[in-house]
Amino acid sequence: MKILVTGADGFIGSHLTEALVRAGHDVRALVLYNSFNSYGWLDSCDEDVKGKFDVFAGDVRDPNGVRTAMQGCKAVLHLAALIAIPYSYHSPDTYVDTNIKGTLNVLQAARRSTERHALCRSLRTTHFRGSRRIQRLRSRLISLRCRSTAPSAHRS
Ligand SMILES: NC(=O)c1ccc[n+]([C@@H]2O[C@H](COP(=O)([O-])OP(=O)(O)OC[C@H]3O[C@@H](n4cnc5c(N)ncnc54)[C@H](O)[C@@H]3O)[C@@H](O)[C@H]2O)c1
Repeated sequence: MKILVTGADGFIGSHLTEALVRAGHDVRALVLYNSFNSYGWLDSCDEDVKGKFDVFAGDVRDPNGVRTAMQGCKAVLHLAALIAIPYSYHSPDTYVDTNIKGTLNVLQAARRSTERHALCRSLRTTHFRGSRRIQRLRSRLISLRCRSTAPSAHRS
């Protein structure tokens, strides 16, 4: 089955891409477009998976691009995110656009596709005043079965 992995150029997404290819899945790796022709962590992926997945250079902030990336995919594993906490202090809009609106774009694209499976990885961190490091780190794996409100013959 064809699977879209967003954030495939990142730490988790690149290893997930490798694992999916090894498991026999057809993978489309969505990497953040840049003018350096770099696919991030995927540039150094293991030899046995090199060239065995599609790369789609795009941006989850763009709904049309996400819809295009989703075409032909039966599921999406959403790992694209901005994760650096210090940068979020002075540029919060970028985080809203990427982490919130980007996730909405992914879910809406999945909702429009025939199978509509989306899996999002999120990280919840809580800081306590006076603490030198994060006291509690909780990750959540959210599995969503996207539902369509629009009736359609080919949708379950
Ligand atoms: N690394 C961990 O230990 C860990 C633990 C729990 C949860 N998570 C969560 O898993 C997810 C991925 O984490 P990671 O460690 O792989 O981070 P990462 O920074 O290595 O990867 C995120 C990727 O998203 C891409 N990206 C950023 N903005 C984008 C955009 N607008 N469009 C498309 N791609 C974009 C980046 O290019 C980057 O490669 C995050 O949501 C993170 O919070 C990570």
